[in-house]
Amino acid sequence: MGARSAGFPYRAVLTGASGGIGAAIARQLAPGCALLILVGRNRAALEGLRDELKSCPVHIVCGDLTDPRTLSAIETAARSLGGINLLVNNAGVSDFHAFASQSPDVIATLLATNLLAPMLLTRQLIPVLMAAPAAQVVNIGSVFGMIGFPGFAAYCAAKAGLKGFTQALRRELADSAVEVRHFAPRATRTAINSDAVGAMNRALKTAEDTPEQVAAAFLRFLDANGWQRTLGAKERFFVLLNQLLPALPDGAIRAQLPIIRKHLPK
Ligand SMILES: NC(=O)c1ccc[n+]([C@@H]2O[C@H](COP(=O)([O-])OP(=O)(O)OC[C@H]3O[C@@H](n4cnc5c(N)ncnc54)[C@H](OP(=O)(O)O)[C@@H]3O)[C@@H](O)[C@H]2O)c1
Repeated sequence: MGARSAGFPYRAVLTGASGGIGAAIARQLAPGCALLILVGRNRAALEGLRDELKSCPVHIVCGDLTDPRTLSAIETAARSLGGINLLVNNAGVSDFHAFASQSPDVIATLLATNLLAPMLLTRQLIPVLMAAPAAQVVNIGSVFGMIGFPGFAAYCAAKAGLKGFTQALRRELADSAVEVRHFAPRATRTAINSDAVGAMNRALKTAEDTPEQVAAAFLRFLDANGWQRTLGAKERFFVLLNQLLPALPDGAIRAQLPIIRKHLPK
């Protein structure tokens, strides 16, 4: 039995729903949902998305995920609307910058948003998820959580932490009805990537997906077994190489450093 059939129809909380990948997931997930709770900071974007989604009841929680009041508001909504069986921790921020000159506030925000917030939201919602006959938590990581890349040290650290959290909690809850899973996109054309990142990706010939492609792969992942999925055959090969023979990616990425440095913000 696939993970999807275990929790279908979905009663889902989706963070980062106002963003590129989140909105695409919301559109493709809605037909399979009995409830969709959309979370983000941009109320107008969330309301616009809700008006589009006619196929299931949609509720909005507008707030900053680094604020404990937002986590409480999500829990209250999930309980008062009859419970949930899916949590998608998708909200995230990035900052392409040389680490030595990256602002400490930005580093703290990267860790708070990409690592601590999904951990604390998951913690808060576990009792609600446990009340469902079968449920899952899906953490949206990144290929950069498995391959450290120059200019993204803090982002990579947060995403690597998220993957470690996913695996540990998955094992901790292995004898419960809550599955904890990890889905890692590769570069995707959304607002999270600055113009400098877009230009660097083109210069490095880095493959980029559209949010719609990522959402379609996410829906297939929900339907399948296996606790993790990384998008892109070449990226999966590099992740494996990075685990088994890290000196090879060390050399390849070192050769790319002049191009990466050229695009780093001054
Ligand atoms: N795009 C890529 O190249 C790529 C590659 C690998 C992984 N990912 C991951 O995919 C996920 C989605 O990214 P995306 O590309 O769709 O980026 P995006 O378009 O910038 O969307 C990011 C979303 O996160 C929300 N968010 C950020 N900080 C928040 C906070 N403090 N509180 C509440 N919501 C917050 C944003 O809400 P507001 O709009 O309301 O601020 C927005 O909805 C992220 O976890 C990202 O790391 C992206």
